[in-house]
Amino acid sequence: MPWPVLVPAIELWRTLAGVLLGTVTFAFTVSPASGVPSGFPASGNGLWYTSPGVAWVTDWLPIGNGYLAAMTPGGTIQETTQLNIESLWSGGPFQDQNYNGGNKEPSERGQMAQAMHNIRQTIFRDGTIDNVEVLATPPGAYGSYAGSGYLITTLDISLNSSVTGYGRLLDLDQGTAGVTWRQDNSSFSRTTFCSHPTRACVQHLVNPSSENTVLPTITHTFSSDLESGLPKANVSCFDTSTLLVTGNVANPGMAYELLFRVVVLGKGSRVTCQPTGMGNATLTVENASEEWITWVGDTEYDMNAGNAASNYSFAKPLSEVHTSLVKLLDTATSERTSFKDVLAAHVAAYKTNKGDLALSFAANKNLDLSTLPPTDQLVAGYQTDVGNTYLEWLLFNFGRHLFACSAPGTLPSNLQGKWALDTSPPWSADYHSNINIQMNYWFAEITGAPSHAVTPLFDYIEKTWAPRGAETALTLYNISQGFVTHNEMNIFGHTGMKLSGNSAQWADYPESAVWMMVHVWDHFDFTGDVQWWRAQGWPLLKGAAAFHLDKLIPDDYSNDTTLVVAPCNSPEQVPITFGCAHAQQLIWQLLNAVEKGWEASGDDDIAFLEEVRTKRAQMDKGIHIGSWGQLQEWKLDMDSPNDTHRHLSHLIGMYPGYALASYNSTIQGPPAPSRNTTYTKSQVLDAAKTSLIHRGNGTGPDADSGWEKVWRAAMWAQFGDAQAFYHQLTYSIERNFGPNLFSLYNPLDSNPIFQIDANFGYPAALLNALIQIPDVPSSDVPYDIVLLPALPQAWSSGSLTNVSLRGGLAIDFSWESAKPTEVTLHSSRATRDRRVNVSFNGTLKAEVVVRVGRAYPIVF
Ligand SMILES: *[C@@H]1O[C@H](CO)[C@@H](O)[C@H](O)[C@H]1NC(C)=O
Ligand SMILES: *[C@@H]1O[C@H](CO)[C@@H](O)[C@H](O)[C@H]1NC(C)=O
Ligand SMILES: *[C@@H]1O[C@H](CO)[C@@H](O)[C@H](O)[C@H]1NC(C)=O
Ligand SMILES: *[C@@H]1O[C@H](CO)[C@@H](O)[C@H](O)[C@H]1NC(C)=O
Ligand SMILES: *[C@@H]1O[C@H](CO)[C@@H](O)[C@H](O)[C@H]1NC(C)=O
Ligand SMILES: *[C@@H]1O[C@H](CO)[C@@H](O)[C@H](O)[C@H]1NC(C)=O
Ligand SMILES: *[C@@H]1O[C@H](CO)[C@@H](O)[C@H](O)[C@H]1NC(C)=O
Ligand SMILES: *[C@@H]1O[C@H](CO)[C@@H](O)[C@H](O)[C@H]1NC(C)=O
Ligand SMILES: *[C@@H]1O[C@H](CO)[C@@H](O)[C@H](O)[C@H]1NC(C)=O
Ligand SMILES: *[C@@H]1O[C@H](CO)[C@@H](O)[C@H](O)[C@H]1NC(C)=O
Ligand SMILES: *[C@@H]1O[C@H](CO)[C@@H](O)[C@H](O)[C@H]1NC(C)=O
Repeated sequence: MPWPVLVPAIELWRTLAGVLLGTVTFAFTVSPASGVPSGFPASGNGLWYTSPGVAWVTDWLPIGNGYLAAMTPGGTIQETTQLNIESLWSGGPFQDQNYNGGNKEPSERGQMAQAMHNIRQTIFRDGTIDNVEVLATPPGAYGSYAGSGYLITTLDISLNSSVTGYGRLLDLDQGTAGVTWRQDNSSFSRTTFCSHPTRACVQHLVNPSSENTVLPTITHTFSSDLESGLPKANVSCFDTSTLLVTGNVANPGMAYELLFRVVVLGKGSRVTCQPTGMGNATLTVENASEEWITWVGDTEYDMNAGNAASNYSFAKPLSEVHTSLVKLLDTATSERTSFKDVLAAHVAAYKTNKGDLALSFAANKNLDLSTLPPTDQLVAGYQTDVGNTYLEWLLFNFGRHLFACSAPGTLPSNLQGKWALDTSPPWSADYHSNINIQMNYWFAEITGAPSHAVTPLFDYIEKTWAPRGAETALTLYNISQGFVTHNEMNIFGHTGMKLSGNSAQWADYPESAVWMMVHVWDHFDFTGDVQWWRAQGWPLLKGAAAFHLDKLIPDDYSNDTTLVVAPCNSPEQVPITFGCAHAQQLIWQLLNAVEKGWEASGDDDIAFLEEVRTKRAQMDKGIHIGSWGQLQEWKLDMDSPNDTHRHLSHLIGMYPGYALASYNSTIQGPPAPSRNTTYTKSQVLDAAKTSLIHRGNGTGPDADSGWEKVWRAAMWAQFGDAQAFYHQLTYSIERNFGPNLFSLYNPLDSNPIFQIDANFGYPAALLNALIQIPDVPSSDVPYDIVLLPALPQAWSSGSLTNVSLRGGLAIDFSWESAKPTEVTLHSSRATRDRRVNVSFNGTLKAEVVVRVGRAYPIVF
């Protein structure tokens, strides 16, 4: 398809400095380079622009290493890099030392048990109840993730001198942001990235045409003022080349520290640190031919202190923070290390952290970089259904960039990954756990992300959900085994039901940890890492299952001898009722995972396993077909055909789950002899599809977000409908991705909200059109691998290599003219032999018993 028309080559723009600092407002001309900037990856795997970014949310470019993140506008004379430290949060015990994770007091346990009893009685009498607010607690010191200030770098160049040859880019092969331009008869190249091995970020400046040219005088300083809501930090000189920044996110609030050190090269070059008034200082670099500033940062937050033994302090001593930061900085800026070494180490780790899956579309093979339009123009010209294979591929790679830059820290990626502006980002940039945090990790295992990029998610659950969640189980549900969490989670063990308007809709979601256990199980299933399973995976799974075994109760409404949850509602949607499809399907999957993981767990608690088996057989499986042929969202047939709610909660078993996708009437039919409704698989799938159609395209009265669209796209791929898949996926691109490819929650708003889930859901949805291997209820059931289940015409030829699969399997394959060509199945990480069926276009192509450690070419 044709590229969109190019915009005029020269445009006037107000410098960011003028806009942001409010001190000077001036204008000068910038003329862009023709074609992609120098340094743009030859693979085409990058974003690029012809002018500096203006709006943080739609223009600036993200880099990070999991521990630290940064957003860069690509300024010239002045660069203002906005910073994040992954654990910088207001609230929690740092604000209120009595903060208890939103739990009821232990003394309220009896009262809550009575309230729960009354709620259940009403539900089993009337079918629904209006309100469960009595169970919720005010948010208290819930807090919020926050930005941690700006690094301001200024070059001593006349403001009137014009900029030519401007270009900025985000290199998705290397994980670096870059700016190049000419000014004052000099060329400049600035590169910014955050390195995982050093836990440090780096900004490097050089004249690329002549590395010995002396750069103008450069100053580096730190601003907390630009970060709205952040109290003034104390900036001082740590040594002659190092700034020390100490501050608090709020008063009272968590303390943080940042250290910035400059390394200069060049004869006669010099760096000095000067105090510039009360609590401020500046680094000045003179006569350098090359310079780079390295920063490290941390807070006093400590996830390991989120338990009763540590009095839920979540804190470590500030002196410890300081000592380890100095050590990190010394290592990152060691004299023995050149900038090239620092970059090379970063790039190697970046590639690992993205996972080793590789996707290519033949349509992009002969990409002509000299005519490649800037990314913002590609996005602006993009149309639903028409598509653009290059941009579709780029968004896939961008999602993986965001993952590599935000997941491998100590905390998992939050609602905004790790990139958040100011101190009150939308929804606290927290961990919403009724789709959002899950979607962040949908593609992690299949792309072969390394364990250290995924285990922060499990550490977070183990260390901040389980301890307080066990208290919530006891005080709110009167259950003394396992743990429970609800929808909204901070980093301080918030596990209660968070009271807010219409609280059942938002808060009554005790299945959040059940959904997370899909990821726990998958990590073991994909990696076969028994040691991890025993140490972390299994205890989490057991804790979540133990709670829900106790929480399942007989359905005293239908009297059909099944076990159900009550009260329940679909995430963010009333009525409040019993036997909600979403909950029943997820709990059933969890109990299957317990059985599948039992053998490897080394656990000998047979009574537990037996209870799992018994209650799993008795429970309602959450699969009922209703009056208009829909899959019921609730056990009572109450669905409205015009309900276009953004969540597809009751279809969870289609994607990312398998209760519907791998439906088996023998084990999922109703247990009670009194019932005669046993559905066939095609009846169930038809009903699910009917529900999906009625749910609309993800633009509805309740939202217009990206995640609801990419979820629908993945779901359509699961149904094998290439056209509906591509329509929905391309619609999400046209509507929900900004010029910098950030996914926008409310795209038509003049100041839209960045929410990262669609950026992460997108690669998962795309892959689900190329390869599927839905989970199965028991290890004896063969896997059904489906190749190219929903291939759009535009992607008719391509290849995928290093695709990780369940059971420790992996696959490489290519396709031409929409048909698989070379296919090889591996069992690289399998711990047991598995039966596998491989099919394409509705035809079974191979039945293989995959033996451990073998490779199987499959002939088409
Ligand atoms: C634990 O914290 C509470 C306040 O929440 C405080 O009263 C108590 O002294 C602390 N105990 C210890 C051992 O630090
Ligand atoms: C740039 O170079 C031109 C031609 O060599 C010269 O006339 C001009 O003075 C130089 N400008 C600066 C700012 O050095
Ligand atoms: C330090 O001074 C710089 C330059 O005047 C200013 O931009 C910055 O906001 C100051 N930083 C703090 C923490 O006050
Ligand atoms: C700022 O930090 C320096 C260095 O740690 C310290 O000497 C000074 O007292 C601090 N100033 C304030 C106002 O906290
Ligand atoms: C930088 O170089 C200029 C001119 O070459 C010289 O005048 C100045 O003293 C040097 N500055 C430093 C700090 O060495
Ligand atoms: C279930 O049993 C209760 C209590 O015996 C009764 O009130 C109710 O009508 C029964 N429901 C059905 C659907 O039979
Ligand atoms: C949707 O259907 C319900 C009944 O199921 C009806 O009450 C409501 O008015 C309908 N809404 C619209 C917008 O058609
Ligand atoms: C369905 O489950 C039954 C009972 O476990 C099993 O025998 C059968 O093979 C399963 N069917 C499929 C298609 O997996
Ligand atoms: C279930 O049984 C009832 C009563 O015998 C009958 O009316 C109904 O048609 C049956 N439903 C199905 C799906 O067979
Ligand atoms: C999305 O759905 C809305 C409401 O049904 C409809 O007006 C719109 O045309 C649809 N857009 C696309 C691209 O499917
Ligand atoms: C898939 O099968 C159908 C017939 O069932 C056939 O018409 C179509 O060409 C096949 N597609 C491919 C790509 O082989």
